[in-house]
Amino acid sequence: MTDLLRPHAEQQFADELAALARADDRQRPPNWKLSPWAVVTYLLGGELPDGTVVTPKYVGPRRLVEVAVATLATDRALLLLGVPGTAKTWVGEHLAAAVSGDSTLLVQGTSGTAEEAIRYGWNYARLLAEGPTPAALVPSPVMTAMREGRVARVEELTRIPADVQDALITVLSEKTLPIPELASEVQAQKGFTVIATANDRDRGVNDLSSALRRRFNTVVLPLPADAEEEVGIVARRVTQLGRSLDLPELPAALEEIRRVVTVFRELRSGTTTDGRTSLKSPTATLSTAEAISVVTAGIALAAHFGDGVLRPADVAAGIVGAVVRDPVSDRVAWTEYLEAVVRERDGWAEFYRACREVTG
Ligand SMILES: Nc1ncnc2c1ncn2[C@@H]1O[C@H](COP(=O)(O)OP(=O)(O)O)[C@@H](O)[C@H]1O
Ligand SMILES: [Mg+2]
Repeated sequence: MTDLLRPHAEQQFADELAALARADDRQRPPNWKLSPWAVVTYLLGGELPDGTVVTPKYVGPRRLVEVAVATLATDRALLLLGVPGTAKTWVGEHLAAAVSGDSTLLVQGTSGTAEEAIRYGWNYARLLAEGPTPAALVPSPVMTAMREGRVARVEELTRIPADVQDALITVLSEKTLPIPELASEVQAQKGFTVIATANDRDRGVNDLSSALRRRFNTVVLPLPADAEEEVGIVARRVTQLGRSLDLPELPAALEEIRRVVTVFRELRSGTTTDGRTSLKSPTATLSTAEAISVVTAGIALAAHFGDGVLRPADVAAGIVGAVVRDPVSDRVAWTEYLEAVVRERDGWAEFYRACREVTG
């Protein structure tokens, strides 16, 4: 298992989940592996009576997580909404792992997602040889989740064409999936529900029909409340990622993490931290998730080509790459920020030089 590039949440945190299950004497909804209380503790972290430390997976308002978990215990599905990089996918995976012990029943929504991904398909060799039989049927992740009373995840729901989305309506309202070819149906077992995610930034995608929207409770995941919270999220995740990628451990990289987060937050909000200078915002989202990638890439640079300490030059290229997506307008915004803010800031001279070098 240690050779897996990316273990599923339920594999990676198997020990925590097992300890939670042992400590958990509260009522579990039918087919849940844990009680709602234990699921919230798994997500937000805490310490158990036996001394087990549960690491926080999500950093954010407790109430949001409670609402999300409570929703899963009702007959309504859960829609996680937010701008890119607010941990919608991450939270969906961990919720499924904690509730069902299985985060793998996943439909990735794209404009090419077909109805088979939500209902079922056929093994054509068998279909031709035997005709439509249960053995020739290829269940979708949603169908499997219904049969087993588990959580199905639908990623980027609003990218799925509207008529395909509609296949979910019967599933969510009637809790059944008809199979006309076999004159039968799959009725959902207790514990079945859907966690969907959607970006509220996606333009030109298929909005949710009101019929479908009514089947979901929506929880909006916010951007981190302040810089310190965001630095904490990035630091924790970078350490975890570094470990799973077997990157050499670097001494605390907090100074550079703080710098990346400061740049991203200032450009995102269009004003400097002290509120004195207003800035042009680039087109890129500059999310927490991107800050995590920039720092992780920087650590790889520092570890393999530097002196083993994360330096300004190790994050500069990543920052410029993340900010300058549009070669014209983003470059203007970036250069203005560089000259008006970075250049003048105490302790940022080395970072300024490194940025100049990669900005060209
Ligand atoms: N509030 C947060 N708490 C914990 N991790 C976060 C938070 N915000 C972002 N992340 C991290 O950012 C990464 C990206 O999240 P992802 O779930 O892919 O975002 P989304 O699906 O919203 O675009 C994850 O690795 C996650 O650890
Ligand atoms: Mg996502």
